[in-house]
Amino acid sequence: MIERTFVLLKPDAVQRGLMGEIVGRLESKGLKPVAMKFMRLPKELAERHYAEHKGKSFFPGLIEYIISGPVLCMVWEGENAVASVRTMMGKTNPQDALPGTIRGDLCQQTGRNAIHGSDSVDSARREISNFFNDYEITEWKRSIDPWFFE
Ligand code: RTP
Ligand code: MG
Repeated sequence: MIERTFVLLKPDAVQRGLMGEIVGRLESKGLKPVAMKFMRLPKELAERHYAEHKGKSFFPGLIEYIISGPVLCMVWEGENAVASVRTMMGKTNPQDALPGTIRGDLCQQTGRNAIHGSDSVDSARREISNFFNDYEITEWKRSIDPWFFE
């Protein structure tokens, strides 16, 4: 099933110069970018994005971290894209994330785990609409698609 998922490269990924590495992994997988935006999140948007964690002990630190510098907000499309990106990210705690995953290869601590990806198709829909207007999502045909999809 072709899906869309919301991906956000967190301030540590940007500061460490890992945007190219992570975007490269998503591209190599064959996922197709349909929206990208580099920005510093207003606190209100960060809190809305992570609303499910409001009230938890790590929430204030999570918000401070996510607004501490610019982030790269993206929408990627592909076969089973939501679960596929979650698998590529690895477990939330990089110590539990397998080698070969983004967090397993590039990160050490939960509070600096470089990447967010939607955890369900419903979350993806909600998150995409939080970050992008319809006109910012680009429908485009990719000439190599027949080499990814039979
Ligand atoms: P994300 O939402 O960022 O993609 O991460 P996730 O689904 O793997 O993990 P989630 O449970 O949704 O947690 C969101 C982010 O909050 C920070 N966190 N810190 N100190 C802690 O115990 C703790 N737990 C979560 C992480 O940055 C995590 O990615
Ligand atoms: Mg999450």
